[in-house]
Amino acid sequence: MASRTRLFILLSCLSAIVLVQAEDPYLFFTWNVSYGTISPLGVPQQVILINNEFPGPNINSTTNNNIIVNVFNNLDEPFLLSWNGVQHRKNSWQDGMLGTNCPIPPGKNFTYRFQVKDQIGSYFYFPSTGIHKAVGGFGGLRVNSRLLIPVPFADPEDDYTVLIGDWYTRSHSALKKQLDSGRSIGKPNAILMNGKTGKTGGKDDKPLFTMKPGKTYRYRICNVGMKTSLNFRIQGHTMKLVEMDGSHTVQNLYQSLDVHLGQCFSVLVTADQTPRDYYMVASTRFTKYMLTATGIIRYVDANGGKVGPPSSAIPPAPVGWAWSLNQFRSYRWNLTASAARPNPQGSYHYGAINITRTIKLVSTSGIVNGKLRYAINGASHENSETPLKHAEYFGVPGKVFKYNTIVDDPSPTTSNNKITVGPNVLNATFRDFVEIILENHEKGIQSWHLDGYSFFPVAIEPGRWSPEKRKNYNLLDGVSRHTIEVYPNSWAAILLTFDNAGMWNLRSNQWERYYLGQQLYISVLSPNHSLRDEYNIPDNLDLCGIVKDLPKPAPYSI
Ligand SMILES: *[C@@H]1O[C@H](CO)[C@@H](O)[C@H](O)[C@H]1NC(C)=O
Ligand SMILES: *[C@@H]1O[C@H](CO)[C@@H](O)[C@H](O)[C@H]1NC(C)=O
Ligand SMILES: *[C@@H]1O[C@H](CO)[C@@H](O)[C@H](O)[C@H]1NC(C)=O
Ligand SMILES: *[C@@H]1O[C@H](CO)[C@@H](O)[C@H](O)[C@H]1NC(C)=O
Ligand SMILES: *[C@@H]1O[C@H](CO)[C@@H](O)[C@H](O)[C@H]1NC(C)=O
Ligand SMILES: *[C@@H]1O[C@H](CO)[C@@H](O)[C@H](O)[C@H]1NC(C)=O
Ligand SMILES: *[C@@H]1O[C@H](CO)[C@@H](O)[C@H](O)[C@H]1NC(C)=O
Repeated sequence: MASRTRLFILLSCLSAIVLVQAEDPYLFFTWNVSYGTISPLGVPQQVILINNEFPGPNINSTTNNNIIVNVFNNLDEPFLLSWNGVQHRKNSWQDGMLGTNCPIPPGKNFTYRFQVKDQIGSYFYFPSTGIHKAVGGFGGLRVNSRLLIPVPFADPEDDYTVLIGDWYTRSHSALKKQLDSGRSIGKPNAILMNGKTGKTGGKDDKPLFTMKPGKTYRYRICNVGMKTSLNFRIQGHTMKLVEMDGSHTVQNLYQSLDVHLGQCFSVLVTADQTPRDYYMVASTRFTKYMLTATGIIRYVDANGGKVGPPSSAIPPAPVGWAWSLNQFRSYRWNLTASAARPNPQGSYHYGAINITRTIKLVSTSGIVNGKLRYAINGASHENSETPLKHAEYFGVPGKVFKYNTIVDDPSPTTSNNKITVGPNVLNATFRDFVEIILENHEKGIQSWHLDGYSFFPVAIEPGRWSPEKRKNYNLLDGVSRHTIEVYPNSWAAILLTFDNAGMWNLRSNQWERYYLGQQLYISVLSPNHSLRDEYNIPDNLDLCGIVKDLPKPAPYSI
């Protein structure tokens, strides 16, 4: 404890020095979002490009950088980007969800302005509107540690981003139409790795990455897909886990990793095998079908030449979800690694804080007016024309939504109850330390994400949660992260402090569930209305819905 406290004081001093010395650097991007045609499965299909790239460009930033992205929407539909795992401290105005932002109309642009405050690690961005995410518009976002802050491993030779995800051949409008008509989009057609299946006409695609013999590389693997957990592995190589969802981990070795929807992992891989090509493999988990993508890593000889084809033996994926649960339990936060702490105010001693509220969320589904809907505690979220955050800021929340339409402790029969459709907003007391239980009564695996925060997953167990389960919690070194899976007929418990004022989306990462209502917003209001707690509404923010012509409220002051 003493060394952690000293470290914290040291970090606080460092950030104070930086604050007085200079403003944090700015990174500027201009992004043109447009349709394009590519043929990842050999058949041309419509995709969403950013500056003609699929996947979109990587953002390479450093802790506390200010990121300015001017997004031009050249689609024929309203569009928004969101930033998976970027906390936007005091600034849910930049979160890019329909509860916080008006969508960018076709032919218009919007400039996101946010700081990657106190963050490190691997993230991605994605379209939050419609079913756009199914066809692109996503890309990697990395946050490097500042030079002053030591990283708990040697500088890798290079740093590679691997975006894996399931993929449909249908257009986003066809997928949306299917969901709007009340039917599931069914199973995906393929898995892509950085936009490719790995094979064209039965032949391997060009290598995605190269490694020099003897050198160590960082791979950042994120699941940007729609529906399925994926297992990632590299033929003949072990992976040393060093980071997940923005936290440095204890550096265990793995043959393969289950990467659930919305999660990012960093691993170190040393080119210590016979020089030749090797396959990276991403394949579906917990599904009745098996889809696989491959990508080639090429060892280069001293002259940069090719040294040999890959072995055709693709390593198999593990079987069953108990394996995956055990893997989750092996993850530990590296408490001695110095890095930006997600909650520098001190909630990383999370085991010593008393829980003030327990919110149990049970996923449900059902038919409403003949159409499939997904819900949380019986409420299926529907976006309002006026973003929830704007309605609240302009003092007219009651005209748009009601707070707390669901209860914290739903009855055990929730899953059989009827589903209501409308905005689903919980309010929380600023700075409360809460426990959220995600309970899965279904046969399929789930993945949940919370915007604006990092949380501590303290347990995942089969069965139903009860207060006695708290004695099994990991109250010391759970990895602080933003996305957690919940296995079939199991529950997960997460702990966090609601210290980031704003309107924050909690969602299923399974995109048809998200689209059909399995999401909610948590309103965290600071009673002080002070700039120390939350930024003012940005000047360039478009207004829509009922607040469009209302006078702007008095801005927050110091
Ligand atoms: C953006 O992309 C669209 C469609 O490809 C193109 O018509 C337009 O000129 C591009 N705009 C810029 C500023 O590059
Ligand atoms: C990313 O940024 C870091 C730090 O500024 C720099 O060292 C590195 O070369 C950059 N990587 C790429 C791919 O631009
Ligand atoms: C749209 O882009 C222009 C620059 O081309 C910029 O001046 C303007 O602020 C942008 N609009 C918004 C709402 O960000
Ligand atoms: C944790 O980080 C420290 C400090 O950088 C490092 O020395 C140590 O090896 C790491 N521990 C583990 C178990 O990964
Ligand atoms: C937590 O609650 C216990 C029992 O109510 C109390 O004794 C203790 O002081 C509290 N701890 C903190 C840090 O508030
Ligand atoms: C939620 O908001 C309502 C209406 O403003 C208020 O009465 C209630 O105290 C709030 N609850 C919490 C937990 O903040
Ligand atoms: C509001 O501001 C006062 C005075 O600065 C402070 O004492 C109090 O803790 C603040 N309340 C919250 C909830 O932050």
